[in-house]
Amino acid sequence: MIVTIDGPSGAGKSTVSRRLARGLGFAFLDTGALYRGVALAAQEAGLDVDDQARVAAWLEGLELTARPDGGRFLVLLAGRDVEPLIRNEQVADLASRLSGQKTVREHLLSLQRQAGQLGDLVAEGRDMGTVVFPGAEAKFFLNASPQERARRRLRELQPLQPGLTLEAVLADMAGRDQRDAARSLSPLKPAPDALVVDTTELDQEQVLGLLMEKVRGLAGRS
Ligand code: DC
Repeated sequence: MIVTIDGPSGAGKSTVSRRLARGLGFAFLDTGALYRGVALAAQEAGLDVDDQARVAAWLEGLELTARPDGGRFLVLLAGRDVEPLIRNEQVADLASRLSGQKTVREHLLSLQRQAGQLGDLVAEGRDMGTVVFPGAEAKFFLNASPQERARRRLRELQPLQPGLTLEAVLADMAGRDQRDAARSLSPLKPAPDALVVDTTELDQEQVLGLLMEKVRGLAGRS
């Protein structure tokens, strides 16, 4: 069974997806980490990420893989686990710019679908229910108000960037949201058959409970 969880950053996808996967005994795929992996590689190569022809040629030599490891997928660049290097705003910004390019999305499409062939999966991202796994049995789209999403993001980032303000996070997020929603390829939007959950007033336990109940109901029916 495949469960998809899409939505903008700060909507509460990551932790809930991880915990849902663990609770169900499914593997967990964080597809944002794949886009961030491409971004890190581009940064290390000193690539101009807005030069689409250069990016397309460079992708052919990119050694990016997703390896199953204890219930999740590790993102590896030429065999190196990149997790500690991709959770920062510079990489997020490059990932957002690269994610609007057709060649990048196509490159990652097959990697993501391969992960879906290995067994039960919770896949988290922006286009899981619409493009990557359109036939998924359970689809969710999590959202929250921009203020609440920025507050959550600030909480995550402040330990790393103590001077960061809510205003800065809000502005940054608005720019990236706009780019993610307005792009012509796989724009951020709920699949027609997704359950849309507004998490603004809900805590993690409540969101998790709701999703778990829904998936268990669907699994029981099939
Ligand atoms: O969820 P995240 O912040 O780790 O995602 C990083 C970037 O990758 C973000 O700009 C959206 C993009 N992305 C995407 O376009 N499609 C996905 N399935 C996952 C992420």
